[in-house]
Amino acid sequence: MTYPEPFDLTGRVAVVTGAGGGLGRAFAGVLAEAGATVACAERDLAAATATAAPLGAVAVELDVTDEDQVAEVVPRLAAELGGLDVLVNNAGIGDLRSVPLHRVRTEHWRRVLAVDLDGVFLCSRAALAVMVEQGSGKIVNVASMFGLSGARISPIPAYSAAKGAVVNLTRELGLQYAAAGIQVNALCPGFVRTGLSGGVYENPEFLARLQAQVPMGRIAEPAELRGALLLLSSAASDYMTGQTLVVDGGCTAG
Ligand SMILES: NC(=O)c1ccc[n+]([C@@H]2O[C@H](COP(=O)([O-])OP(=O)(O)OC[C@H]3O[C@@H](n4cnc5c(N)ncnc54)[C@H](O)[C@@H]3O)[C@@H](O)[C@H]2O)c1
Repeated sequence: MTYPEPFDLTGRVAVVTGAGGGLGRAFAGVLAEAGATVACAERDLAAATATAAPLGAVAVELDVTDEDQVAEVVPRLAAELGGLDVLVNNAGIGDLRSVPLHRVRTEHWRRVLAVDLDGVFLCSRAALAVMVEQGSGKIVNVASMFGLSGARISPIPAYSAAKGAVVNLTRELGLQYAAAGIQVNALCPGFVRTGLSGGVYENPEFLARLQAQVPMGRIAEPAELRGALLLLSSAASDYMTGQTLVVDGGCTAG
């Protein structure tokens, strides 16, 4: 399949973190379909391989919280694959304890921030070093609608704090690297059926409560985020930086 010109990624190199399942697997798929050479970077190598193999993509073990590993793997992938055009900071964990802040354990807070915020910092830092040298590149930060508002469905303070920080980091980086030919944007999904929430979507009562909050009346499937991700990863968004693209079935519209 050949994608039309602004979406064609032939000759481009993309790294997707957390590509072993859920949204990351859908993102790796659409980038490969659009012609990119894709590296699926995951803490779970078997899951990365399951994503990569049918796509003819590369699988690599990467824990985004491991500073030394990120500093080694990202430039190595760029050297081996012929550059780094797109980084998708997708790896993330949910706030599964779901307790209000006065009951949040420090170790839990730090773990969520380590993956959902520090991981974005570490991977972006390594990728930007390559992209600045190249004079081009795109970073897509997978944030959340809960980076733009608090969560009414259940308390997720660490997650909301991390995603809010990712949204504003995106704006900051958009400004800092605009003149360097690098675009940095955030994709903010609403509720998507993945493993992130530890199976809560399998609970019919919880799912009904959730869907009642979505103007479109349903949660999304991961494939429904592919188009937005491709927009932010391709020349179609070349005059767009520091922005957030919200794909949430209308949740944050009012
Ligand atoms: N599912 C949703 O409703 C939803 C909504 C908004 C935003 N998001 C965001 O989308 C992104 C993808 O989440 P998902 O829903 O596909 O969840 P998921 O749990 O299905 O996938 C997350 C992937 O990230 C990997 N991962 C976790 N920690 C990692 C680490 N330290 N290093 C490398 N890989 C790691 C996991 O192994 C897994 O493969 C996350 O950033 C999440 O916050 C999800």
